[in-house]
Amino acid sequence: MSESETPIKTPKDLILAILAAFILPIVIIVLLTQFVGFTKNSTSNSDAYTEEAIEERLSPLGKISTQPLAGVDGSEINKALVVKTSLATGEEVYTARCAACHAAGALNAPKIGDIDTWKPRLAQGLDALVYSALNGKGSMGAQKGSQHSDDEIQRAVIYLLNESGGEFK
Ligand code: HEC
Repeated sequence: MSESETPIKTPKDLILAILAAFILPIVIIVLLTQFVGFTKNSTSNSDAYTEEAIEERLSPLGKISTQPLAGVDGSEINKALVVKTSLATGEEVYTARCAACHAAGALNAPKIGDIDTWKPRLAQGLDALVYSALNGKGSMGAQKGSQHSDDEIQRAVIYLLNESGGEFK
């Protein structure tokens, strides 16, 4: 290679050549990293990073609903849910825990529907009868403090009495 063929002839050429040799690659690398960063960041525009999408990915797998299932009315599952989330009706409570004695008159319990037997008891008034049911009377044990609330026992009393000549709300 003769001297005349090289493009570097003056110190200025040399400085330019050094600049080109060192700075140009750096500039290219910086531009490349910017480009990679840009392509990565571009996913932030996609649906995968929306607040809803992130929330959905982080949410638990199952949710517990206390609503009765639609479309399967009357199923055992529904009954269980309804009983748990709202007060049982008087009839439900009566059937579950009072009928054992009051349906057939076991232990000399006044029978449901036996108006003559209930008449003198009705005369005591609802509060006294509810009190008897809650706290027990004679061979009837106290009905309070089990899976049924006091309000539910009262509903059962009202149901029982109204089936036996009473007129309570
Ligand atoms: C173990 C049997 C038994 C069960 C269960 C039972 N009772 Fe009785 N109940 C009796 C007997 C016996 C009497 C009569 C008590 C007496 O007057 O000596 C009675 C009396 C009553 C009376 C009249 C109380 C009074 O003061 O005259 C009411 C009201 C009553 N029961 C409601 C209920 C309700 C409501 C339930 C269910 C939540 C229930 N009972 C469950 C046996 C039972």
